[in-house]
Amino acid sequence: MTLLDARQLVVKKIDELKNRVKKLDKKPSLVIIRVGEDFASGKYVANKIKRCEEVGIESKIIHLDENVTQDTVQKTILDLNNDDNVTGVLLQLPIPKHLDEDYLTNLIKDEKDVDGFTIENMGKLSLGLDGNVACTPRGIITLLKEFNIDIEGQDVLIINRSNIVGKPLSQLFLKENATVTIAHSKTKNLKEKIKLSDIVVTAVGKANFLGVDDFSDNTTIIDVSINFNEFGKMCGDVSKEDYDALANDKNCNLTPVPNGVGQMTVIELIEQTIEIQEKKEGK
Ligand code: GUN
Repeated sequence: MTLLDARQLVVKKIDELKNRVKKLDKKPSLVIIRVGEDFASGKYVANKIKRCEEVGIESKIIHLDENVTQDTVQKTILDLNNDDNVTGVLLQLPIPKHLDEDYLTNLIKDEKDVDGFTIENMGKLSLGLDGNVACTPRGIITLLKEFNIDIEGQDVLIINRSNIVGKPLSQLFLKENATVTIAHSKTKNLKEKIKLSDIVVTAVGKANFLGVDDFSDNTTIIDVSINFNEFGKMCGDVSKEDYDALANDKNCNLTPVPNGVGQMTVIELIEQTIEIQEKKEGK
């Protein structure tokens, strides 16, 4: 089995992205809007900013109060849409319940939508047209390709139907000629479906949701979740105690948590910001 550890790839990518930034006439700039005090969001945003600095692109956080009005968030986004110095805009999710997440996400100008979450960008992805693509799904495909894991013709099960992960990821796998099944909380016979799949992507959000007995030999397991176990340690959906057995008894490939998919999401975000600027400059 291979542990699909993203760390080496991240180092390589940062180097490559640094060089691409140097070739641009103008440094790309990413603006992240964060609303409220969601703990995990704080960590993710800090990580995104750190990576921007490493690659040499401009970044800024606009941190709005938990009780901010819809009008204020709307005005913030529209101002950024009209600011020629801003390459990419991202509204960190989740946002407080009194705000309309779908409406505000879609307000971001399609070209600046580094998350690939607007209706236009999601539509383009479904139609197989060029546009911005959600970063976690992008990162999963990049990671599989880096480790030379076959995708074409494989049976892929995605246990997640969200707009951020499951839906865009299903489109990327289709583009790679995989056969895709999306499972969710109402899916029948989930365990049977897992056993029949070549690639299983889990983004359920429950520590110890899956273990060694759930998988057939040679399965590639992509664990997207970031959970915290009873000892406060970061983990995915797959039991950490089973990593060794998955490797040694079942010859599975597995993305570890931490140092798996989460790292890739941030790299893809930075790369997409650079791509937007490259397109602007005709490069
Ligand atoms: N919250 C969790 N993942 C993401 C992401 O990829 N983009 C944004 N904007 N918010 C998130």
